Amino acid sequence: MTVRAVVCTTMDGKMDAPLSWRYGGWTSREDKDRFWSMVSWCDVAIFGRLTWRDLMRIDLHLKVSALCEPWVMSRDHNLAKLNGIEVTHDTLQTFRLLMGRLPDYADRKILVCGGASTYAFCRTWIDEWYITVEPVMSGHGQSFMSDDGEEPFMEAFDLCSAVKTPTGTIFMNYRRAKKDG
Ligand SMILES: NC(=O)c1ccc[n+]([C@@H]2O[C@H](COP(=O)([O-])OP(=O)(O)OC[C@H]3O[C@@H](n4cnc5c(N)ncnc54)[C@H](OP(=O)(O)O)[C@@H]3O)[C@@H](O)[C@H]2O)c1
Repeated sequence: MTVRAVVCTTMDGKMDAPLSWRYGGWTSREDKDRFWSMVSWCDVAIFGRLTWRDLMRIDLHLKVSALCEPWVMSRDHNLAKLNGIEVTHDTLQTFRLLMGRLPDYADRKILVCGGASTYAFCRTWIDEWYITVEPVMSGHGQSFMSDDGEEPFMEAFDLCSAVKTPTGTIFMNYRRAKKDG
């Protein structure tokens, strides 16, 4: 199984646009293209409820559903029923339950699309981070992760590539660091 997380942040590390921007307009064309190539890559894509709602607002959930199997995290019983999982406050347990839905998940490709709680649920399983930093300040909302857990990001992951586009968007790819020995 490969678990890949994809996120776009402002330069001050937030996942939502400054309040004057709406619905993803602050993210670059290149970031949107990368998102769709990731959705095409995966078997299952995991979304938070608000993220999924935003996709539904502009009918992009249909495109996602045509490319992979979407799962939506929620404590809402109707949604949870739709997902077919019982949700739990134990993140490892939640992820195991999610994976338990796949009859054979060893070869599966899983994409984690956020937001912050969704990344936290899947965090210790994530093999790769694809992080886009847009040249936008005064972001809003949460950071894509807090680093107060057992696994400090910079120790757990190695930077594999960083590329800047002509318009100033930076693409970074981190992979889980190989353990010594
Ligand atoms: N820039 C980016 O790359 C990016 C990516 C994704 C999202 N975002 C932004 O992040 C913000 C939050 O997004 P979000 O709400 O979709 O995701 P989130 O922060 O992961 O929200 C929490 C999600 O987890 C569910 N949840 C909470 N506790 C749970 C539990 N114990 N078991 C199962 N599910 C549980 C919630 O559903 P219920 O509330 O129904 O319980 C909700 O769907 C949005 O403003 C979105 O725009 C940005």
